Amino acid sequence: MLKLSNFLSDLVPQSIPLSLYVHMPWCVRKCPYCDFNSHTVPGGKQLSLELENEYLYALVEDFKTQIDLAQGRKISSVFIGGGTPSLISAKGYQWLFHQLKQHIEFIEDCEITLEANPGTLEHQPFEDYLQAGINRLSIGVQTFNTEHLKKLGRIHSVDNAMLAIQQAKSAGFQRVNVDLMHGLPEQTLEQALYDLKLAVEQGATHISWYQLTIEPNTVFFRTKPVLPSDNILSDIQEQGEQYLIDAGFINYEVSAWRKEKPSMHNVNYWQFGDYLAIGAGAHGKVTKEDGVYRFQKTRLPKDYLEKTPAPMVNFEKVAEDELPFEFMMNALRLKEGAPMPYYSQRTGLDIEALQPSLLQLRQQGLLLKDEKQLVSTEQGYRFLNAVLEKFL
Ligand SMILES: C[S@@+](CC[C@H](N)C(=O)[O-])C[C@H]1O[C@@H](n2cnc3c(N)ncnc32)[C@H](O)[C@@H]1O
Ligand code: SF4
Repeated sequence: MLKLSNFLSDLVPQSIPLSLYVHMPWCVRKCPYCDFNSHTVPGGKQLSLELENEYLYALVEDFKTQIDLAQGRKISSVFIGGGTPSLISAKGYQWLFHQLKQHIEFIEDCEITLEANPGTLEHQPFEDYLQAGINRLSIGVQTFNTEHLKKLGRIHSVDNAMLAIQQAKSAGFQRVNVDLMHGLPEQTLEQALYDLKLAVEQGATHISWYQLTIEPNTVFFRTKPVLPSDNILSDIQEQGEQYLIDAGFINYEVSAWRKEKPSMHNVNYWQFGDYLAIGAGAHGKVTKEDGVYRFQKTRLPKDYLEKTPAPMVNFEKVAEDELPFEFMMNALRLKEGAPMPYYSQRTGLDIEALQPSLLQLRQQGLLLKDEKQLVSTEQGYRFLNAVLEKFL
């Protein structure tokens, strides 16, 4: 059990970067493996213009209630996630950013990522999204195998997926992430490697490569599909990693591989930065002088829209004794970890209280002997849970 010293001093929110998460809660169809806060779009394939306008208006009103939490900071990155954010028009986003900027400035070159589903893009040329200010795309491909796309209940085809990446690139997007999953029902090693190969060949500049997990409250949990054996899963992991390294990708977080810059938005999460959060079910984290707070917006779209601005369902201070674990759980996911001073800057706690644990982990070869950076060794990275236990 860690013994914590008192708070070092007042926290200084202005020294911590501030991002913005925007949640779009609708999808054309619910995928059988998905436990995200996503709901079937009312009335069929497209989001009606009326509902789009109503939701965008509600987002702006939600944002206005969070201005004080920014404490004078600019927004350093925006991530529009879902659900399926590409159900909202480029015009809608243009209007949204214009409105948000009336209240808080965005930094120059602010990274703005949109999650796009290859099955919802036929009505929205990518050029329009770029024009609207979105400068990074995250395309939810999942796999380039027709049978697997069917098993995953996806609404797009292999051709849709390839076309989406090509169109994003030719529209001028220089930063294109492709989301892929592996360990799919009855997937072979060759099929998993083929998915990576196609993503690389199509020109993805970043790949998020997740192993499929079976989550409670999903169709896959109730009717379990046949998953690859542990041996195949570990071959996929090992050979997939080697393939990506050979293709020039750098693994900077458990599932994140980059050829260019990392996702600045996600790096801010992992380095325990702050983020405002608007939209149904969105989660935020903000620092005040007296501590770190987490909050969540009401989850169901209909409740979110019922009362504008939508209420927060909770706004709670993170207990002081949970902060070391929370910080480490995020920072040590990053291959390069986090600068040592971030610990005190972002938790308000004295790093001295952690020295016995740090020393022990260094002696066990699980943390690097680096006074400037909190970072695990290769071994520590492989046994991250054992490392994190020391901070409980
Ligand atoms: C927030 S989701 C939504 C993205 C987008 N709606 C889509 O599906 O195309 C982001 C990514 O998480 C991954 N994901 C979702 N459910 C997962 C699961 N059960 N196991 C592993 N990865 C999952 C998928 O790769 C997905 O693209
Ligand atoms: S499209 Fe994405 S968010 Fe929507 S149900 Fe499927 S995985 Fe979930």
